[in-house]
Amino acid sequence: MNTERPATDAPREREPNEANVRALVEAFYRRVDDDPLLGPIFSRALTGRWDEHLAKMTTFWSSLVLGSKQYRGNVQEAHRPIDDIEPRHFARWLSLFLNTVEARYEPAAAVQFMEPALRIAHSLQLSKFGWEYQIPVEQQELLAALKRQRTGGAPEPRFPERPDAEPFPAKFIGTSADEKSR
Ligand code: HEM
Repeated sequence: MNTERPATDAPREREPNEANVRALVEAFYRRVDDDPLLGPIFSRALTGRWDEHLAKMTTFWSSLVLGSKQYRGNVQEAHRPIDDIEPRHFARWLSLFLNTVEARYEPAAAVQFMEPALRIAHSLQLSKFGWEYQIPVEQQELLAALKRQRTGGAPEPRFPERPDAEPFPAKFIGTSADEKSR
């Protein structure tokens, strides 16, 4: 996968709204469905129910970033029956999600999706793989950088060279000036 270029050349959205959240969800799950690693997991769970899933995920993300709709569900419970999820699936899920968000939203809007995605992924990983599971360092650092950015603790985002951005292509996040870049 080429993570160097955005997935679309369309201008990026400045603010999330209901229509572009729906478009994000559709674009993301199109990529998931086409992905050789993730596609089969989602097909097994969702064949015949994709429309319902896309509607549910639009409500979920709208609840998080717009505060408008009410997602009613239990994310942990929903993933419990999916017993073929491995660590590499999370890396791919996050890579596709962050890349899709980054291509479609300006950075300030993108972080509103990225931080919850990373936070929820983190808790799903711990419940899937056990509390001893070591969250990949790059994932931890990206979450920490996003939190600093949200809480205003971060300086202007830098654009560090990240060798081989897979699996976390959110290049604009950067690290704070007093931290060594990796
Ligand atoms: C390896 C990574 C992941 C895989 C393979 C995966 C797979 C799935 C599948 C197959 C479903 C449908 C379950 C069903 O209705 O039968 C689902 C639902 C869902 N996923 Fe994931 N997921 C992953 C990561 C995440 C992450 C990081 C988030 C957080 C943003 C997330 C949020 C959700 C939500 C909100 C639902 C709907 C839950 C409900 O039914 O209320 N997933 N996921």
